[in-house]
Amino acid sequence: MLNLGILISGRGSNMESILKSIRKKKIPINPAVVISNKSDAKGLIIAKKLGINIEVVESKGFKNRWEYDKKIISTLSKYGVSQKNGLVCLAGFMRIISPQFVKKYKNRIINIHPAILPAFPGLNSQKQALEYGVKYSGCTVHFVDTGMDTGPIIIQAIVKIKEDDTESTLSKRILKEEHRIYPEAIDLVARKKIKVLGRKTIIS
Ligand code: GAR
Repeated sequence: MLNLGILISGRGSNMESILKSIRKKKIPINPAVVISNKSDAKGLIIAKKLGINIEVVESKGFKNRWEYDKKIISTLSKYGVSQKNGLVCLAGFMRIISPQFVKKYKNRIINIHPAILPAFPGLNSQKQALEYGVKYSGCTVHFVDTGMDTGPIIIQAIVKIKEDDTESTLSKRILKEEHRIYPEAIDLVARKKIKVLGRKTIIS
């Protein structure tokens, strides 16, 4: 069974849905540790309540990404979240990961993004979607590569945009879908049902 490490920076609602789904839906993965780069992340309180190991690896003051990521890797390793036996989920982890970390954990890091990639990568995706005037948006779970939200896509969910949507109402509806598809994607990885072929993922 793979060991799961979840990286957060704030609220932690995706983390919560992942941890609860692992129990409820019997996803065959061991939730090993939640790591936050901020000591005041609300998600840490939720993780503690759910009985999972928590760690803070403070990112303030780190200029060099790889220097910081080495600390994350050593914390992950402490809990058995290795390249061979681990899966790392970015769940609202608001840092760009170094290429060295990505290469070391090749196809072992996944991320959730609140847009239908490749549209609206980066920050404030829901706002970007509304300003652009698209009729549909949604969310994407993808493997992390060295680009910004560019890795092979695992699952996407579509959300229809309403004429009176605000950033907040749209974000809420997208978040509901995020909470559904992220655990689904983890289940697929845990059951070794995904093959990565170049940019594509083949799901069996
Ligand atoms: C989620 O909407 C997630 O998709 C987004 O941050 C939010 C975190 O919420 N991530 C990104 O925008 C990454 N580019 P959460 O802490 O409640 O899971």
